[in-house]
Amino acid sequence: MAKIAVIPGDGIGKEVVNEGVKVLEYLNSTYELGLGFKEFDLGAARYLKYGELVPDNILNELETFDAIFLGAVGDPAVEPGILEKGILLKLRFYFDQYVNLRPVKLYNDRFSPLKGKGVDEINFTVVRENTEGLYAGIGGFLKKDTPDEIATQEMIASRKGVDRILKYAFEYARKTGGKLTVSDKSNVLTYAHNLWQRAFKAMAQEYSDVETNHYLIDAITMKMVRNPEIFDVIVTCNLFGDIITDLGAELQGGMGLAVSGNINPDTVSMFEPVHGSAPDIAGQNIANPLATILAAGMIVEYLGHEELSAMVDQAVQSSIDNNKVTPDMGGELSTSEVGNHLVKVLKELKGDK
Ligand code: NAD
Ligand code: IPM
Ligand code: MN
Repeated sequence: MAKIAVIPGDGIGKEVVNEGVKVLEYLNSTYELGLGFKEFDLGAARYLKYGELVPDNILNELETFDAIFLGAVGDPAVEPGILEKGILLKLRFYFDQYVNLRPVKLYNDRFSPLKGKGVDEINFTVVRENTEGLYAGIGGFLKKDTPDEIATQEMIASRKGVDRILKYAFEYARKTGGKLTVSDKSNVLTYAHNLWQRAFKAMAQEYSDVETNHYLIDAITMKMVRNPEIFDVIVTCNLFGDIITDLGAELQGGMGLAVSGNINPDTVSMFEPVHGSAPDIAGQNIANPLATILAAGMIVEYLGHEELSAMVDQAVQSSIDNNKVTPDMGGELSTSEVGNHLVKVLKELKGDK
C-alpha cells in the first residue's frame, strides 16, 4: 500500500487540494491502487496558534510516507518567508528533493499569450535544481537595523549537487528524446556557474546521443517568449528555475495550470502546484484546481501508474477544450465543479477503453 500525506496548507491550497484528492480517491477506488491518505494541518493557522511550523514528530511521521501532496503555504497574517521557508523549503531540503520537475505544456491554442505560437511550439520541461543555489540559506546580517546594515546571501553550487541534477536532466532528455538546454549566468557568476558549465560539458561527453545547447538566463527569457519551440528540456539552478517557471506558467495558460514535482527517488517526493496560496481569491471557490489535479497525475505516475497519469492529462485536456474551467481561464465553473467534471471525464475515458 502506498501512503500519501496530504498537506492542504493555506488559502486556495485547501480548495485545490480537495479537488486533487477527489481525483486520487476516484482512481484509487476504481483501479484498486491501494492508496492510503492522511491529512496534516501545517500552515498559518497552526503557526499562529502554536508557533509551530513542521514539528519533529510530524517530520518523522512524514518519512514513512511514499509521497506528499501539498497545496500551498503563505498567509498575509504571517511575515513573508516564515511559512514558505519553514514548511515548503523545510520539506524540500529535509527530504533532499533535489529535482524540481516543472512541465510547461500549452493545452489549447486559445490560451497562448504568444502570437503564432500554439500547442506544437509550447511544450517543454524545466528541471530546476531544488536544494542549493541562493536557496541554501547561507548568509546573515551585520549591524541590522542600523544605517550601516549589511546583508549577505550566498549562492551554493556543490559539484555533487550539480552533477546529480545534470544527470537527472540528461537522463530525462534521453528518455523523452529531446534536446537539453542548460541555462546559467556563467558570464558573471564566474565561480558558481563556472562549476555548472564545467560539470555540464563533462557530462555531455557521456551522453553523446543527447543534443545540448546553452543560453544565459537573461537571454533564455527572451527565447522562451520569441522561440519557445526550440526547447525540450531546460536545466537550471534553483532561483533561475523559480523565475522562469512563472514565465513558463504564463506561456501555458496561467498559474492555475503549472505543476511541480519535488523529487528524490530515494526518500519522500512531494507534488504541488507552482502557484501560491492566492489570498486575493481564497475562500471563494473560484481557484483553478487543474495544476493540483495534474500534480495528482504526477503522484500516480511516480507510484508506477503511468497509464493513469496519461488519463488524468487527457481529462485535463478535455476540460480545457470544452471550456469546463474556472473564471481565470474564461470559464464559469467553480473549483469544486471542475474537480467533479474531471472525475466525470475520467469515468467516460474508462468506459471508452
Ligand atoms: P500566487 O501564486 O499565490 O498568486 C499570484 C496570482 O495568481 C494571484 O493573482 C492569484 O489570484 C493568481 N492565482 C494563483 N493560483 C491561482 C489559481 N489556482 N487559480 C486562479 N488564480 C490563481 O502568488 P503570490 O500572490 O505571489 O503569493 C501569495 C502567497 O503564496 C505568498 O505568501 C507566497 O509566499 C506564497 N507562495 C507559496 C507557494 C507554495 O506554497 N508553493 C508558491 C508561491 C507563492
Ligand atoms: C515555488 C515558490 C517557492 C520557491 C517559494 C514559495 C518558497 O515560489 O514553488 O515556485 O521559491 O520555490
Ligand atoms: Mn515560484
